Amino acid sequence: MSESSSVSNETPLPEEEPSFVIDAYERRWMQVSAALLVGFLAVVTISGFMMGIQVSGAEQEVDPSTFTDAEPWSSPGLREVEPGYYKAYVIARTWSFEPAKLEVPVGSKVDIYVTSPDLQHGFKITDTNVNMQIVPGQVSKLTYTFDTVGTFPYICHEYCGKGHAGMVGKVEVVNASSTDTSQSEDDS
Ligand code: CUA
Repeated sequence: MSESSSVSNETPLPEEEPSFVIDAYERRWMQVSAALLVGFLAVVTISGFMMGIQVSGAEQEVDPSTFTDAEPWSSPGLREVEPGYYKAYVIARTWSFEPAKLEVPVGSKVDIYVTSPDLQHGFKITDTNVNMQIVPGQVSKLTYTFDTVGTFPYICHEYCGKGHAGMVGKVEVVNASSTDTSQSEDDS
């Protein structure tokens, strides 16, 4: 204590030096890093809340061991809500999709629900932005409007065992006139 008082008596410092100096080059990098963070945050905010681009979340929870006993999962497939609007229920299991084919008229909006009774799978529809992780016990949901006639394969894109590579199905988007929207034929 006596030491510190003696120091302050003897050395009055007119100009205090900063304890460290940031080089101009280093400062520029810090500015760029901060600008990138702000930029990315803005992109995420705008895409998520203004453009509606969201990661698919758990829409609903189900019991993986019993959900196939009750509707709609006891008969997965398409349900017509109204002309041009469908709900699709797809079960992803080792190692297939049920159903393996969904046929909708061009221009249809489809709410796609997918869940799994066994392992974690993936559900990606080729050439669309439909891309979901399928977790047992959770129902993943995305809505997509199929505006182009054609075949859009869906695949499992999370490795789930020896049959993973064969886990495929497809959405057939057809001209409105050639669609039979009733499910009776597909249920056989
Ligand atoms: Cu299911 Cu990979």
